[in-house]
Formats: sequence, structure tokens, C-alpha cells
Amino acid sequence: MCGIAGYVGPQSAVPIVFDQLRRLEYRGYDSAGIAFPQGDRIGILKRAGKLSGLGEMLAQETPESHVAIAHSRWATHGAPNDLNAHPHYDQFGQIALIHNGIIENYLELKTELAREGDTFQSETDTEVAAHVIGRLHAQGLSLEEAVRQSLAKFRGAYAFVVLSAREPGTIVCARNASPLVLGFGEGENLLASDVPALIPWTRRVWTMPDDTVAVLTKDGIRVTDVNGRPVEAEPEEVTWDVAAAEKGGYEHFMIKEIHEQPLVARQCLAGRLTDDNRVALDGVFSDHVWQEIDRVNIIGCGTAYHAGLMGKHLFERMLRLPTDVFYSSEFRYGDPLLSDRSLAVFISQSGETADSLAALRLCQQRRIRTLGIVNVVGSAIARECDRVIYTQAGPEISVASTKAYTAQCLVLLQLGMTIAQHREMPGVRVEEVVRDLRQWPERVVEALGLEEQVKRIANEWADSRMAFFLGRNADAAVALEGALKLKEIAYIPTQEGPAGELKHGPLALVEEGVLAVFGATDPFVREKLASNVKEVQARGGRALIITTHDDDTMDGVGDEVLRIPGGKTPYLNALMSVVPLQLLAYYMARAKNLEIDMPRNLAKSVTVE
Ligand code: AGP
Repeated sequence: MCGIAGYVGPQSAVPIVFDQLRRLEYRGYDSAGIAFPQGDRIGILKRAGKLSGLGEMLAQETPESHVAIAHSRWATHGAPNDLNAHPHYDQFGQIALIHNGIIENYLELKTELAREGDTFQSETDTEVAAHVIGRLHAQGLSLEEAVRQSLAKFRGAYAFVVLSAREPGTIVCARNASPLVLGFGEGENLLASDVPALIPWTRRVWTMPDDTVAVLTKDGIRVTDVNGRPVEAEPEEVTWDVAAAEKGGYEHFMIKEIHEQPLVARQCLAGRLTDDNRVALDGVFSDHVWQEIDRVNIIGCGTAYHAGLMGKHLFERMLRLPTDVFYSSEFRYGDPLLSDRSLAVFISQSGETADSLAALRLCQQRRIRTLGIVNVVGSAIARECDRVIYTQAGPEISVASTKAYTAQCLVLLQLGMTIAQHREMPGVRVEEVVRDLRQWPERVVEALGLEEQVKRIANEWADSRMAFFLGRNADAAVALEGALKLKEIAYIPTQEGPAGELKHGPLALVEEGVLAVFGATDPFVREKLASNVKEVQARGGRALIITTHDDDTMDGVGDEVLRIPGGKTPYLNALMSVVPLQLLAYYMARAKNLEIDMPRNLAKSVTVE
């Protein structure tokens, strides 16, 4: 996610906002820029690359101003270059805007503005937003009112921060889904996308709620809702040190990223669900492609491969669309059978995994349509696929992938519904699935409420010599992901897969001290699973069962039962069960005092074979 910074007060503002950006560098970015009032206009300094480049520009001449805003860009629309870097001007050069998030309907807005004579310097959705706001401001509205009235035109996630040449002592910002935090100082006020960029100047911070607008001057901060009604800010005193603040006060990036999943889910869905409960994925394939696809091949590594297994379950069970999932390393050397009406889907958080990139190039040689489900915008896989859908999970720092996995699975569901919408599938109730999907972010918040129970279980069972992760149908796919988490960060050997396979060999490994985790979210196979649980317990294994909140059939079956919030869509219920599995792996590794964010032998992105 982009870094956002802003200062208004008696000090020289440009060095402060530059320093704020430095404190957000850990989040990852590919360009940076600063805006400040300069006489009767707004000055902007920006460039692609690391902050050092912008620093060199400032070292030559530091503009004098008591107000400034700054941005480090995590590209979402348009390549990482000087032109696409933020801030962006409006058509008249009277305002400068920075933005974090995605304006899903920016192309239609851009077409409308161009028809009225606007010209654009960049490929970004942000510049379009600047033009929309600038046009209202030029008609005489105050900057605050121009921002407020423009919000109704945007569909998607945003954190906007805007300066105007006409109102040099003011910063206006607005938030929907993308984080914005206000810093309340003495005779000065600040804003940022994250707390570490506020702490050196003030510890009184307050996170803006969605759909609010704030006006910052040196004398104070005034907050209103999108209708102009006052909102009472309630600043809290932050006691974190800076290192802790980069982790949002969490002990490790992994647990922070597990807890970011509700926000990530909202960002992954923002602007992609219509008011009549359909899916609107902009800029993917045209109708006839969705109608003619006769097979889907999903390719990925590790966690991305596990997300692919969820995609297979969804496409085959719901859409009756034949789907294969391949490890990238196997696909690229396996001379795969590919029909020219197939679709190859590449899942990758980093977008740089060598085996996945090689597999993509194999498909291109065979002239197979390729679609990327990628997190890092502008990465190799994102650039080279015919089309790409971004997961909007923001920078994932911990080597063990968590929020990227759930975001990948949410994109796969949106892709599945898109295919269903183009193939007239009466059996697929898209509206019902989308209504369920809308609830998912709040359900994750509820699932995270299991944290203390999982932590207790993890502390009791951290000494397990081995762990089984078992399930049936989609629960078997999630079991593989839960097992990988525990392997990766707690270094505990695991056996994972379909529970029905136990008797065909793995049961020989069950003995005293073995932990077995069962995913039981699918009511149609619970009875079968209960007998698998008994098989393990009869041989001294300890059984943890994860089931949905409305199921009491598992009471008394396992040694421990965790209940997750559930809805009408089995796919989403199975996916939800990954949250306690992520927490279990984290707290078992923590009980063993292991280095969680950077586990031994592993790298975040495997860019070599
Ligand atoms: C998952 O926790 C691991 N970090 C690893 O398996 C990872 O999923 C795999 O290397 C694929 O990476 P990618 O999604 O960036 O392509």
C-alpha cells in the first residue's frame, strides 16, 4: 500500500513530510513525490525509484513552506515512473492530490473529462480524481466541499489528500477503505497512512473512519462525514516505539498481516461488486472469451498453489468447468496438454517467482490465454500476462503468506462469478454468493476473535512432534495451506490432505503426541470426518476440529473444537477456516521462540529456480 504523509504548522514542512516517507519505507514503494504551496500555485517534486532520488532533488533546493503533503507509490494503475508518481495536478494546476487505493471506475470518468477537453499526463486513476475535484474547486467550491462532493463519483477504495493554491494553509483529506491516520500536535497537525510516520511529532493519533473528510490547519483538525455532518475525533495516546509501530504495535509482521485480512478483504472487494449484487471486474476478458473457455489451468507455487486448489474446487463444483492445478515447477517441465480454448491462471503474490514466470512464458509460446492474480503491481507476471487482477493485499512482509492467500481466494471467487455471469448458469445464484461475499470481511473480524483460544491450544500443543492437517473437499485444500504455515515457521513436520486417505497409509504415523487438525466446515461430509477423528484419537493423537458456528455435531468429538462464523457459501466457509490455522501456526512458532517473519532457509520471493 502507498505511503501518505502531510504536515501543517510553524516548521518547515517539506523536510518533515520527506522524513515521514522515510518512516514508511518498510511498506514497499516504487516512486515518491511531495507537493507544497508555492506563491499562487502548487509546487510538486516527484520521481520514480527510491526516496534517495527525491532526497537529491531536495538537497539542491528545499522549498520553504509550512504546509506539505507527500506520497510513496505502490503502483496500482500505470507503470512505476516519474509521470505516474504522485502527487498529481488537476487540469488547472490549482490543486495537487495524492491517493492510496483503487478508483475502479476511473476509465469512464477519464473518458467523460477528456470529452470536456481535459488532458492527462499519466496513466493513473489518481490524476483522474484530481481532475474531478479540481473541476468542482474551479467552479468556486471550497476545497473541502469540492472533495466532499466528488466522493459520490468514485467507486472503489481511497485515501485522498489534497492541497489548493487558493487555500495554502489547509490540507483536506478523505477516506474510504484505505487507511488514513491523523496526528494532533501543539500548534501543528499531521496525517499519514500509518502511525510510524506520526510518532516523532505527536503521539496523539486517530484513525479516520470510512466515509469521512478532515480539514487540517495549524490551529486544528475538523472532521465531518460525507454529508458534511460533524464527526467527533477521539485521539488516542500511542505508547509504541517506532520499531513496534512499523508492525502496527504487533510483535511480528505475520500477526499484523493476519489481522489486516478484514481490511485487505474490503480492498479486494472495493469497487468490484455492483449494487445489484453482481461482480464487475474491469479490464479483464471480453464476454466471448468467458463463454468459450473449455478448461482452466491454474499454476502457482506454495501458498499460491493452495489458492489454486480452492479455485479448482470452486470452478468444478460450482461452474462444472474442468480445472487443473499445477505446481509451476512441474508445469514448466511437464509438457502439459493445453487446449487452445483453455485459460491459464497464474497466481503469485510477488509476481516474480521464477518457476511461475517460466510457466507463463511456456503458455505464451503455446498461444494460450493468460490471466494473472497478482499482488505486486507492475511485477513481471503482472506485466506479461494478457490480463491481470490485482489482489490489493498491500505489501506482504512476512515470508509466510497469509493475507495474500485469502485475497487470492477472494479474487478466484470473483472470477468464478464473472464466468457464471457470462455463461448463463441458472444453478449458480450469483446474487446470493455476492451478498455472502460482502459479509466476509466482518466475519473475518469475528474469526480473529478466536485468537485467545487458539493461543492457549498452541501453547499446550507446541511440543507436538508432528501435525496432521485433514479435511474433505475444500477443507482438504485449506488443510494444505494450514500445514505449510506450520512447517514454514514452527518447523514441525506435517502430513496433510484428504481425511479419507488416512487408512491408506498416513495412519501408520499416528501415535501419542501427534496433533491432528480437522477442517469440518462442509456439513455433507462431517459424519465421515468424525470417524476419521476417532481413528486418530484411538491411537493417541490429539484432535482439533474447526467447524462452523452453527454446527453442534462435533461437540465432544475432538479434544478441542473451534467455531468459525459461516454463511451460505461453502467455499467461503472453508476459506474462513484458514484464519485459525494461520493463528495456530503463528502461536506454536511463538511458543517455540522462533524467528517468525524470516524463517530459516526461506525467502519471501523465490526468484531463482
Ligand atoms: C508461502 O507462505 C511461502 N512464502 C511460499 O510458498 C510462497 O507462497 C511461494 O513461494 C509463491 O510465492 P509467490 O506467490 O510470490 O509466487
